[in-house]
Amino acid sequence: MSNLTQSPAWRALQDHARTWSGRTLLDLFAQDVDRAASLSASGAGLFLDYSKQRVDARTLELLLAFAEQQQLQGWIARMFSGALVNDTEQRAALHVALRAPRAAQIFVGGTDVVPRVHGVLDRMSSFADAVRSGFWTGETGARITDIVNIGIGGSDLGPRMVCEALAPAASGPRAHFVANVDGAQIAATLRGLKPASTLFVVASKVFTTQETLANAHTARHWLVSHLGEGAVERHFVAVSTNLAEVRKFGIAPANMFEFWDWVGGRYSLWSAIGLPIMLAYGPALFRELLAGAHAMDQHFSHAPPAQNLPVLLGLLGVWNSNFLATGSQVIAPYAQRLERFVGWVQQLEMESNGKAIDREGMPVDYATTPVLWGDVGTNAQHAFFQMLHQGPITHAVDFILPVTVDHEYPDQHRLLIANCLAQSAALMRGKDAGAVRAELQAQGLSGDELDKAIPHRVFRGNRPSNTLLLPRLDAYHLGALLALYEHRTFVQSVLWNINAFDQWGVELGKQLAQSVLRAIDDPASVDLDGSTRALLARLRP
Ligand code: F6P
Repeated sequence: MSNLTQSPAWRALQDHARTWSGRTLLDLFAQDVDRAASLSASGAGLFLDYSKQRVDARTLELLLAFAEQQQLQGWIARMFSGALVNDTEQRAALHVALRAPRAAQIFVGGTDVVPRVHGVLDRMSSFADAVRSGFWTGETGARITDIVNIGIGGSDLGPRMVCEALAPAASGPRAHFVANVDGAQIAATLRGLKPASTLFVVASKVFTTQETLANAHTARHWLVSHLGEGAVERHFVAVSTNLAEVRKFGIAPANMFEFWDWVGGRYSLWSAIGLPIMLAYGPALFRELLAGAHAMDQHFSHAPPAQNLPVLLGLLGVWNSNFLATGSQVIAPYAQRLERFVGWVQQLEMESNGKAIDREGMPVDYATTPVLWGDVGTNAQHAFFQMLHQGPITHAVDFILPVTVDHEYPDQHRLLIANCLAQSAALMRGKDAGAVRAELQAQGLSGDELDKAIPHRVFRGNRPSNTLLLPRLDAYHLGALLALYEHRTFVQSVLWNINAFDQWGVELGKQLAQSVLRAIDDPASVDLDGSTRALLARLRP
């Protein structure tokens, strides 16, 4: 048994969870007419309704006591102050510094990092303005019409998701993203582009990532074969922490935009990794995104825990998965432009908190991150919502909905709102056998036929969800939403006593990929297991 599961706050929550069997959300709403108002909170322009969570005043009291036991406030303060919260790598995790205003001061190892952050932001802005205005041209003097971001994981998911989410604001070159080492992706991308008007952004924190370098070399070869070696300087820029590797690839330091080891890959879209956003949408929009995230940072560090959105979301997530045994966390944005938000959250939360060793190096005896998955509503309703409504396992859902829209068909937004609210209500209310019987009898069913039909139409209900409202899907509120999920991830890591900021779990696969690659050419040189060897034999041309 770990210290955590033996701790007073954990055990109190466990005891309290037992009192929840048989209690329904519908009863709670009937008993408390103010439930929706009291179980809601707002911050940085976002509004959270968590009244459809299986919590009452006592649950919240115990959850807040748990947060206190885990010294959450101290951890938040430490993260914001630049302490080495990533202790397996002896690094700070200072994504909050990337969106701090110019006047702020945040120290890492005695150096104020804010001037550096703004120095890079200013360089990015000048470069983006030059490209967007046509002052920076390609080798032949042609204007840049297309940019291709080559990166993977955090060096792809964040900027790609933001570019899609803010698509109506597009005002510069078209942004394309290549991540997969499957050559099909870069082939399809290059097919539609002209070398003379294409700019490549090679984005990699370490600049040794196999997939990114393979795609970058392919792109370089494509460019050089059309325009010659001398064109690389006008058509390639790098975003990285590793100047030596950038140089080795053949990109000059003047064409590199720097970030730092205290920026985790999945927390990096606010850094120079956001360059494609700036190039396609302009520096002003990027700064709005940062401002929204900063507003959420302020809320996170100052709002009392009971009204603090990231703290509440973190506590509710732990309550659901560790004490009420929900199966997974579904993310359902009711906003088509947030389609890629799910993928970004998956990396954020599962790469951060998919760990089984605690901060003391001991194995955990409790669940850490749930599986996160989802899709946009209303599409998801016609795909996997059947399971959410009637499957044997209860899953928690986050519904995310913009209040207003700015597209040409605002009438359809009424349908979107209706569907979103109807789904969370249906998950909560369910439909009992009595109601089903009455409905079917009214349709004329009776006897055996009626009895057989009833169980298939019953919904157990009582399934928990959050509803998160954004005034509109603009850069500011998107920034706030993303920062909210970043901080929820951190809150949960503190509650689970794990380090959210390393990712040793991706290393083994990377190492083995190198061995298998060697074995493709020279099978005898590598000691492979029987299955891998047999598969390789089938795959060899
Ligand atoms: O998948 C592991 C990982 O290290 C992620 O954390 C990171 O976002 C991704 O690879 C890409 O890394 P880099 O930006 O260094 O190429």
